[in-house]
Amino acid sequence: MHRDPNSDQRMEIETKRSAGDSSDGERAAWSRREFLANSTGLAVAGAIGGLAGNVQLSAHDLAASAAGSHSPALASAPGKTRRIIIDTDPGIDDAMAIFLALRSPELKVEAITPVAGNVPLDLTLANALRLLEIAKRRDIPVAAGASHPLVRRLATAGHVHGVNGLAGVEFPEPRIKPVHDTAPELIRRIVRESPREITIVAIGPLTNVALALRADPELASMIPAIVIMGGSLSGGNMTPAAEFNLYVDPEAARIVFDANIPLTMVGLDVTRKCLVSEQHIKQLEAAKNPVSQAAGKILRATYERMRHGGEVTDIALHDALAVASLIDPGVITRKDYYVEVETVGEWTAGQTIGYDGHGPIRKSPQMETSAPEPAPAEIPFKPNAQVAVGVDPDRFFRLLIPRLIGSAT
Ligand code: BDR
Ligand code: CA
Repeated sequence: MHRDPNSDQRMEIETKRSAGDSSDGERAAWSRREFLANSTGLAVAGAIGGLAGNVQLSAHDLAASAAGSHSPALASAPGKTRRIIIDTDPGIDDAMAIFLALRSPELKVEAITPVAGNVPLDLTLANALRLLEIAKRRDIPVAAGASHPLVRRLATAGHVHGVNGLAGVEFPEPRIKPVHDTAPELIRRIVRESPREITIVAIGPLTNVALALRADPELASMIPAIVIMGGSLSGGNMTPAAEFNLYVDPEAARIVFDANIPLTMVGLDVTRKCLVSEQHIKQLEAAKNPVSQAAGKILRATYERMRHGGEVTDIALHDALAVASLIDPGVITRKDYYVEVETVGEWTAGQTIGYDGHGPIRKSPQMETSAPEPAPAEIPFKPNAQVAVGVDPDRFFRLLIPRLIGSAT
């Protein structure tokens, strides 16, 4: 049975249902108020990690319990195909990322789970279906995800991605339909069927992934790696502090970063160095296959819109770099960090704060009016993420363009 992808109201209801157990009788209705009342990101992380009570220390304790466990994220056996779920909000660069994954024999795309982000869910969902049709991959399940962030109003980026999310380029209506499961349900099912086999590639706001983790406390231990396009240690693109995917849903990001899953953060520090050139677009346009033609059209339309708007024609392929880093780990260099996500700052929510071990992990002082509690002990450094700190843009484009053109595998 398929859901109507345009029925936003139904999606919303289904998404809320998905926060509970997946069996119909046990599904708990989930609301924003419940999230606020019952589960800050840290409390949820504590539950996931099997730790009780101590909200202040749970993030660190979880990171500490991950000691040494964050490095295998990119260490799949040579020659072994990596099975991935792409959680995404297509999106111009999401489209390139999805095409790259579909064209790469090193990866097996098990599912695509759209989420509201660059544009609302009805469009990200339809776009994901369209992209699969273009790539002739109707076999890959697509499950509708969250139509809004956990507790905030949805912020979108139509000014970057065009009103339809694909730079205004019109592709035929997709004939394939989403599966009945919601995105968090599908993520849970696929991961549970193959524990420690499925890598999550999250290139949109982290709402779907957080909902899956929140609904299933054991799930985190079954996910061997998560690669996130998001965050930044060098300033944001939505505010001076926050990168878009984290800006949209900081509470979800907090849950994911604190979930004790080996995590790679491919953030703006590196992705904004991967800029499309006119030459790249011409190469895509010259190749006569549906994927390169579609990619060329999307990037050409973006380029022209920016040029006519008097903007700098810098198109950064953020999301495609995250996928590329799984195919060719050498495209980025990584460094261990302890990363926390700011959720309470009025001007800074969604900021990623990275500790690299040169100083103690230290929170802001408590408000004078807060109930007294013991001064926090100095928290020793334990990384919870590998952050991409360097990138070879030429190597990235030497991988990406031939794959999209179909002249290399
Ligand atoms: C991220 O935000 C979105 O607009 C892009 O698709 C990418 O995932 C970059 O900040
Ligand atoms: Ca995206």
